[in-house]
Amino acid sequence: MDKADWAPVDGHEVQRLSELFADDAARVERFSLMLGGISFDWSKMPLDEALVGKFEALAEARGFAAKREALFSGGVVNPSEGRSAGHVAERGSGSAQDNELAAAGHHRMRALVDAIEAGAFGDVTGVLHIGIGGSALGPDLVIDALGHDGTRYDVRVLSNIDGQAFEDAVSGLDPATTLVAAVSKTFTTIETLTNVGAALAWLADAGVEDPFGRVIAITAAPEAAVAFGVDSTRVLPFSQSVGGRYSLWSTVGFSIALALGWPAFEELLEGAAEVDRHFRFSEGRANVPLMAAFADLTVSQLLGCETRAVFAYDERLRLLPSYLQQLEMESNGKSVTAEGAPVNRRTAPVTWGGVGTDAQHAVFQLLHQGTAVVPVEFVAVIENEDGQDETHHRQLLLNAFAQGAALMMGRDSDDGARAYPGNRPSATILLDRLDPRTLSALLAFYEHRTFANAVLLGINPFDQYGVELGKEMARAIEDPAEREKFDPSTRALIERAGL
Ligand code: F6P
Repeated sequence: MDKADWAPVDGHEVQRLSELFADDAARVERFSLMLGGISFDWSKMPLDEALVGKFEALAEARGFAAKREALFSGGVVNPSEGRSAGHVAERGSGSAQDNELAAAGHHRMRALVDAIEAGAFGDVTGVLHIGIGGSALGPDLVIDALGHDGTRYDVRVLSNIDGQAFEDAVSGLDPATTLVAAVSKTFTTIETLTNVGAALAWLADAGVEDPFGRVIAITAAPEAAVAFGVDSTRVLPFSQSVGGRYSLWSTVGFSIALALGWPAFEELLEGAAEVDRHFRFSEGRANVPLMAAFADLTVSQLLGCETRAVFAYDERLRLLPSYLQQLEMESNGKSVTAEGAPVNRRTAPVTWGGVGTDAQHAVFQLLHQGTAVVPVEFVAVIENEDGQDETHHRQLLLNAFAQGAALMMGRDSDDGARAYPGNRPSATILLDRLDPRTLSALLAFYEHRTFANAVLLGINPFDQYGVELGKEMARAIEDPAEREKFDPSTRALIERAGL
């Protein structure tokens, strides 16, 4: 069934980019779309009209419209856990009932933000946000991207179990005026609980009278936070149906609201909601996240690309690649279909990347001349950050565009070392400006693109059983009796490290 659905796409002969441009004077317009203050140009990806038509037919055969409707109406789109996906409701784009529940969470969160601002916790200057994976990456990215002109509180995001990470995160914070946001969907994650314990000790050592009174827990397991010692009045719950990597829109965004202010947080929700409406109601090639998925699948299925690289040509978006790594790889790094059968085709490529122009002087050698073909995504912002030198920004943007052109055009030479094969695919995502609305539109676009890829591949993007085995073994390795069951190499490492 799957094979038959895919057959027309699988059998498609991909043309060289230079031929595609030569054949179609309107190629740029044909393969560019605009959404939420962001333009998307896939003209340098090996898509053509016929192929897009085949992908549209594939989407139909795979029941894309019904699955998308299930996403927005609170249907079970995460069958292995029997759950809906609640992130859209956090933006008011879900079912009436789910929207109401999410709004109640936001209401409670706003009351706490207002209380902190009104001085209910005394003088507050810093926030130590403790969480890992989806409980850290989204807030970290948004605060870093939008807080360049300064934030209302000094927010530090602490995730790693490494004691050095703790030292770095609290360095310069005043324990007497710092609040701790303990963010964990499950409230069982060892890194987060260990770091919250360290933060409590840090507060106590500095003479803070009631360290637990400085902790706000954000979780989908409120009873676990209360059992841990956090007073229920300082627990901000969110729904179990909100996946960690999709959670910045929920109360997990508490530190964002503190850092940037409530109006900015609301704008984030609105920017994402605009993309929700577009994704829900646009069809086929007019649908931006769906078109992006067509481009993704063209290079992974037809060119055999195993990785994809994202370069932010904007220092403010430097955390975007790591955020996308979790979103894309934890969602779609699967080998079985939603029904548990083997997928039998490539699923998510390895997402990697960095910041331009730095990356040009590090990894672009391989992109231009290596044996691996890596589709590149350039993400840049047209409008400069206020008050910054235009010359820098102009150079930054022109460099991004020049790299895309060089990858595609290449250059012939009799000297092999100086020859560039060209025909290397890239896409360019250009934000008009970087503000809460456009940034959230970009992130919602990536979420829906991930969902669209999953539907076309037939996989469940909302579970993450792949990380469970590692977690289990990390617990077992603590126990001397269990250690005996480990392999000789691992036992030797434990012995060598004196553990
Ligand atoms: O280990 C992976 C993971 O489960 C992610 O999916 C999640 O975002 C992260 O751990 C943190 O989990 P929690 O929010 O429950 O602490």
